[in-house]
Order: sequence, then structure tokens, then C-alpha cells
Amino acid sequence: MRVSNAIVAEVLAALREKIRPGIATIELDELARQMVCARKAEPAFLGYRGYPFSLCVSVNNEVVHGLPAATRILKEGDIVSLDFGAVYDGYYGDAAITVPVGKVSAEAELLIRATEEALYLGIQEAKVTNRLYDISYAIQKHAENSGFSVVRQFVGHGIGTALHEPPEVPNYGQPGQGIRLQAGMVLAIEPMINAGSYEVTILSDGWTAVTKDGSLSAHFEHCVAITEDGPRILSRLD
Ligand code: MF3
Ligand code: CO
Repeated sequence: MRVSNAIVAEVLAALREKIRPGIATIELDELARQMVCARKAEPAFLGYRGYPFSLCVSVNNEVVHGLPAATRILKEGDIVSLDFGAVYDGYYGDAAITVPVGKVSAEAELLIRATEEALYLGIQEAKVTNRLYDISYAIQKHAENSGFSVVRQFVGHGIGTALHEPPEVPNYGQPGQGIRLQAGMVLAIEPMINAGSYEVTILSDGWTAVTKDGSLSAHFEHCVAITEDGPRILSRLD
């Protein structure tokens, strides 16, 4: 899982460098697929429940599962979430980042920062002395203290020889509740945070989740191994 997640991290780092006004979101999908194949791995999302691309690209009010398209051109002021997964030797990796396109609004900057901070605060709680929802609570508290709301309809997940394994990892919950965390578990922790209300709706393409109120949404994700020595982030470049 270190290998598959390292590949995911490399791909996301390369995609981040490509983000600029004028790029079509399909170009990001193509680069991601080329990179993963060059590393003798496979895209994890392609064909998953019929998903037709390798990458999810969710712009502005899109929360997750945005479909790359040649007609979708990024413009200055957009924020764009990139979610990518890879399989290597049967093991899955999965991570996401949200990136500003050029100069963005102060609200957009705050939302991106608060979502990434919430992810890292959640990760800090991924330790053997804790229970699952200690992670959830840390994320929710930071998102809501920052004036934002936590998406309920999508959650993080266990990950291993399948993309989605038990347990579900909600981004909201009560501290001290949920299963006991144990060394050897790997969790995909992935806060999806909205600037407005937490409600989302799915577009008629069957995939794209958008905020009901049209507000901006941000998404960050890491795969984290729980060890006796604390959380170890697998989907990060050293
Ligand atoms: N990264 C997403 C997740 O964690 C997976 C995208 S779903 C897919 O659930 F269908 F697009 F693959
Ligand atoms: Co995930």
C-alpha cells in the first residue's frame, strides 16, 4: 500500500503543477492515466461501479465525482478538487487535493485551508488509544469552528485489497465512539467541506455531486496506516 499510495501522491503532485486557467479537465485525466500506467499500476476508479474515467475532477460547487470533460475549461478564480486512486499488486491507494486556479476569493482560500487542516487534525487522532469517531469529531469540530459544514452523504473508508472496505469513516461524530482503532488498519480519511449548507445533490449524469445551495466545496484525502507508533500517511511524498 506504500507503493500504490506513493504512485497516487506522485500523480497528484504532477496534476497540481498542471492547474492553470485554460486547461481542460480531460487533459488532467489523460495525464493521470498515462502516469499510473507508466508505473505498472492501474487506475482504481476506471470501471469502478461503471465510473468512466481515471480521475475525479470537481470544480467549485461540485463536491466529489466530477467527470473530466474536454469542454470543461478551468478559469481564474475556480477551485478544483482532484481525486485519484491506483492499484498496484492488488493493493489500493486513494487521495485527493483541492487546488486554487490562479487567484481565488478569500472565502475559497479559507475553505481550502480549513479542509486540509481538518484532514490533518483527523489524521492526528488515528492512533491505537482512540476510537474511530475521534477522527470524525476532530474533523467536524475544525470545519464547523471555521464556519463551514461537513458533507454527510459521502464518507471516508477502510482501504486495502479493495477501494472501499469497512469501516466507513464519517467526517462528523461523537468523540469516544465507534470501533477501537488497531495497528495495521489503513483508513482513507477524506473530509468534504462546504462553504454553505452540508446538503448535496447528484446531477443527471449520475455521478457529479454538487452542493444544493451552490456554495463552494473542498475535498482532501489521505490513506493513513495506524501503527503502534502513531499514524503514518501513506499517500504523501517523502
Ligand atoms: N476517491 C473516491 C472515494 O474515496 C473514489 C471515487 S469513486 C469512483 O470514494 F467511482 F469514482 F471511483
Ligand atoms: Co476515498
